[in-house]
Amino acid sequence: MSTLKENAARAALAEVEDGMTLGLGSGSTSEAFLRLLAASGRDVQGVPTSDEVSGLATELGIPLTVPDEATVIDLAVDGADEADPRGDLIKGGGAALLREKIVASAARRFVVIADASKRVGQLGAFPLPVEVERFAWGLTVRRMREVLAEHGYAEAELTLRPAQGGFRLTDGGNYIVDLRLGRITDAAALDRALTMIPGVVGTGLFIGVADTIYFGTEAGAERQD
Ligand code: 5RP
Repeated sequence: MSTLKENAARAALAEVEDGMTLGLGSGSTSEAFLRLLAASGRDVQGVPTSDEVSGLATELGIPLTVPDEATVIDLAVDGADEADPRGDLIKGGGAALLREKIVASAARRFVVIADASKRVGQLGAFPLPVEVERFAWGLTVRRMREVLAEHGYAEAELTLRPAQGGFRLTDGGNYIVDLRLGRITDAAALDRALTMIPGVVGTGLFIGVADTIYFGTEAGAERQD
């Protein structure tokens, strides 16, 4: 595990108190957090954002709870693929974007952990993952192309994310379409427009959701609020 990821994870661990319910993010930085959390012996319970994290947490002895209407998530901790100066994010490199967004949005506090390479001036170099219902996915992709062109992304490349023997399925059974945009000029407007398309289940744009980002460096972690 990289020192940078571990340093970011350690900074987030300092926010964890006994008795908390934690949203547990997905990806390698979140895995670093999970391992540090388990080693710390903190008395917490977790809400996992993917089947993979659910399995790892169980293996590490971190108790899990199934979220319902009464569940209060004190703190959600998760990684990111890109983070800009406003704290807006691209997530979903690991295909867990929908559950991650549900948990992060419900949490009282959402802390992002990422190595410093994820810090960008403007979002968009990382292909934007969009989760799409499998039924008639081709029609949804066609509508996405039209909406993208209306928003100034006529050159966007859309790719149905492959997996061994077919296409990648999310834990919810949907496809992922990765949008190569190059540069996102108005992330909030783009998120709204894509989310309005029937067939789009959710996007990897996390706008105004993050409270704090810890960027792991060789020396420790830099905090952005
Ligand atoms: C998964 C995610 C991950 O948090 C994101 O891809 C970052 O992963 P990593 O910590 O491995 O760089 O959004 O859907």
